[in-house]
Amino acid sequence: MAENKNGKMIVICGAKGGIGKTLVSVNLAIALSKKNMKVNLLDTDFQFGDVSLALDLQTTFTIKDVMEEQNSVDSASVSSYLTEHSSGIHVLPSPERPEYAELITKEALLSVVDLLRKQSDFLIVDTGVGIHEQSLELIEQADHIFVVTTLEMTSLKSTRLLLETFDKLGFRKKVKLVVNRYDMESLIQAEEVPEMLGYDNVIYIPNNFQIASQSLNLGIPFVVSRSRSNLSKAFYKLAESIVTNSHVSSEGKKKQSLRFTFSKKKGGTDQ
Ligand SMILES: Nc1ncnc2c1ncn2[C@@H]1O[C@H](COP(=O)(O)OP(=O)(O)O)[C@@H](O)[C@H]1O
Ligand SMILES: [Mg+2]
Repeated sequence: MAENKNGKMIVICGAKGGIGKTLVSVNLAIALSKKNMKVNLLDTDFQFGDVSLALDLQTTFTIKDVMEEQNSVDSASVSSYLTEHSSGIHVLPSPERPEYAELITKEALLSVVDLLRKQSDFLIVDTGVGIHEQSLELIEQADHIFVVTTLEMTSLKSTRLLLETFDKLGFRKKVKLVVNRYDMESLIQAEEVPEMLGYDNVIYIPNNFQIASQSLNLGIPFVVSRSRSNLSKAFYKLAESIVTNSHVSSEGKKKQSLRFTFSKKKGGTDQ
């Protein structure tokens, strides 16, 4: 049945590959759904998207199929292109081959995003590296932009450039910085990052190599399989904060701006 929820869109992006964008997208999406939110997850890493892999999902359709039928797809029929994960989230994966990426036009993408928002309380959008023409308008329309970084020098350098670009585009207010693996051994300490990058609206996600890699390899997100780990706790806390501050309820109530301030606790327990 068609719904008209006008869900919040959270775009997860970052200046580099391998910094945790997909890990954040997948686990945040499920953590939100555990708070009784209806969540759609869209993979816009159109060439090398791996959301389906991270969820061990056998999908029938991808965004390419929606593009091909875009004139006949509406807010009722779009759900038939989504694959339901056992956690309850609904996923629209990226195309199965890199060369299909160019078939996705930004106009069609925007209209799909519109339909997916109508169907959900939250639309989580995973992205590829950096920003490109297709994703820019999507980012413009997002309610929140999560910029993921790690403490590595190359990651921080590129993140600074990305944040500067977002500033120039007038997106500062909706950007949150996600410092992933904040407690890993590094020359730069997590507490230096806000000043270094000029952003104090920061979300900290702990480092847990064993749980993170095992979960990606098995295709079982850790918020499902290791719900009491330090990593999962960080995501449940984040989801709680998003739901509370967004004033979204399953009945579709709204609004207010988000405020995230996360206290950092080093050496959280691993489970
Ligand atoms: N918080 C974390 N702790 C430990 N390892 C992590 C963490 N976040 C990501 N990783 C690891 O980093 C790698 C890349 O993660 P991924 O989410 O695929 O990055 P991206 O989508 O940015 O390319 C994966 O092998 C994952 O296990
Ligand atoms: Mg990824």
